[in-house]
Amino acid sequence: MTTHTSYDPNALCDLAEIAARTAAPALLTAFRSEMSVAFKRDAHDVVTVHDKAAERVISTVLQRGVPGSEVLGEETGSSGDARLRWIVDPIDGTANFARGLAYWCISIAAELDGEVVAGAILDPVAGNMFAAADGGATLNGTPIRSASAADGRATLLTSFPTQHDVDLLGDGAFELLAQITRSYQHHHSTGSGALNLAHVAAGWSDATMGFDTHPWDVAAGAHILSRAGGTYTGFRGGVPANRPQHSLDYVATGAGGDHRALIDGVRDLSARWAPEAE
Ligand code: IPD
Ligand code: CA
Ligand code: CA
Repeated sequence: MTTHTSYDPNALCDLAEIAARTAAPALLTAFRSEMSVAFKRDAHDVVTVHDKAAERVISTVLQRGVPGSEVLGEETGSSGDARLRWIVDPIDGTANFARGLAYWCISIAAELDGEVVAGAILDPVAGNMFAAADGGATLNGTPIRSASAADGRATLLTSFPTQHDVDLLGDGAFELLAQITRSYQHHHSTGSGALNLAHVAAGWSDATMGFDTHPWDVAAGAHILSRAGGTYTGFRGGVPANRPQHSLDYVATGAGGDHRALIDGVRDLSARWAPEAE
């Protein structure tokens, strides 16, 4: 993309991919090297110098590609008030990244006039680029399609319940975990909500969910999943959210499966803690 402003979703998607690929080599070099970890909300919420450096690189590439565009980044917040907003998580799964576990990604969404129109999620260790603009979703350029079994035969990827979830939801978190444990064939705690969404989009898993999420955790993944035929159901205060990036709590599923009981469970807990207004 040149310096003229282009709002074509395919061009925005290409630029998001370029930005992610530009940041990836330094992250791969840092991965499994000595690094110090700082804390944000609490001792479970970690950040490294590499998160911040990657976000700077990504923002530079995006704003050079579309001058005047705004970036909402996890590490630096929001800059400006433009029609085009990039929603950036430089590392989703920082706890894994810092510990040497190979389940983390770079997540970038392009939001135009409030709607996400393109998303790219790069898993640099596996060499997987999940992406979607206004056509179908792709993995390394090849079309992907989600698929979902009903809960009894389904695999659920989630980080739930995190310590923060337990603080927020109390015993309700363990009650929902018991329901999940009984009704799903497998459930795995992964540490990267964005990569979970990408894996459901690719058909490698059936469903994913989370509480008290942020726009940068879900914007790209929800878009890729929906372009792969899946469904993202988001809530704020138990009320359906208009857009994934405005939701706090969510269940996302591949095409076909019936996950009503999980959706109801998340909605009920969502109603107990979160504010409704967007
Ligand atoms: C976290 C991951 C994790 C989720 C947390 C997020 P981060 O993002 O997505 O799966 O449970 O709520 O904050 O901090 O690694 O970017
Ligand atoms: Ca994140
Ligand atoms: Ca992050």
